[in-house]
Amino acid sequence: MTRSEVRSATGATTHDEHGKRVSDMFGRIAGWYDFLNHALSGCQDIYWRYRLAKAARPAPGETVLDLAAGTMDVSVELLRQYPQSSIAALDFSLPMLENGKAKKLKDGREKKIFPVQADGRALPLPDNCMGAATIAFGIRNILPREDAYSEFFRVLKPGARLCILEFGTGSKRVWKGFYNFYLDKLLPFIGDRISGDPGAYRYLAESIKTFPDERSLAEEMMQAGFARVYHVPMMSGIVYLHVGEKPGQVSSAAEDAFGSEQRTLEKKKAAGSAAKKSAGKGAKKRSRTAGK
Ligand SMILES: C[S@@+](CC[C@H](N)C(=O)[O-])C[C@H]1O[C@@H](n2cnc3c(N)ncnc32)[C@H](O)[C@@H]1O
Repeated sequence: MTRSEVRSATGATTHDEHGKRVSDMFGRIAGWYDFLNHALSGCQDIYWRYRLAKAARPAPGETVLDLAAGTMDVSVELLRQYPQSSIAALDFSLPMLENGKAKKLKDGREKKIFPVQADGRALPLPDNCMGAATIAFGIRNILPREDAYSEFFRVLKPGARLCILEFGTGSKRVWKGFYNFYLDKLLPFIGDRISGDPGAYRYLAESIKTFPDERSLAEEMMQAGFARVYHVPMMSGIVYLHVGEKPGQVSSAAEDAFGSEQRTLEKKKAAGSAAKKSAGKGAKKRSRTAGK
């Protein structure tokens, strides 16, 4: 797809029109957003955001960018995990930020979380200023995505991480039928009735189905310049955590953490393929025995 082509689940024909439609839509559902999030995910979203924040690993005292912050659940979780950090909570929908501010920015959080209305394609931030960046269920809504990646890359300090939480294709066979039913029928039905916005949850389903799979997303991150890119499936690939790093000097704490995470993943992969091999050998042996 070229930069000028627009493939938007909103039906928009330009990127700016897409942005306007998305912003208006979140503005309309802002009041119901948190409730529906928890209800439609069976409260799994709380754990997903916990994992996202855990992966960010800013050095102590650094500022973390939470883009597409919405009602700021991720910002709050980041501050809970990194109380020495400040959080820049950016989103272009003012009603989403205002809703979150009224409900969540209290008990001292208002001094550490800073909501700002801004478009992720043109961040009002200087170069190399952020110790980590997160975006939960936001990158799917931004067109063109390259603009957001290059802004993330620009504002992150060398060695800092970009952590993306996003829906996957749910491609594992056990989930596929249920996931499609959920996306096509259940989600729009419940979302429409509760939020009172007939298009919003249809757009959600459509945007998930047309979103690139985890490998393509990793490729996009690498093309934007991020290194040490990896992804971790959750709920059998219904949601993915993607992590990448802006190349450059890394603090030793972040290095240790990255190393141990990578080692755990590698160990899991090795254990998985060893188990497959031995299962395969067992099956061959059994079929040879059966053939005897
Ligand atoms: C599904 S919500 C996610 C909110 C929050 N991160 C969460 O985990 O609940 C997507 C958010 O992305 C925001 N968004 C979409 N496109 C954006 C853009 N170009 N710039 C800034 N925010 C954007 C929307 O306004 C909306 O609040």
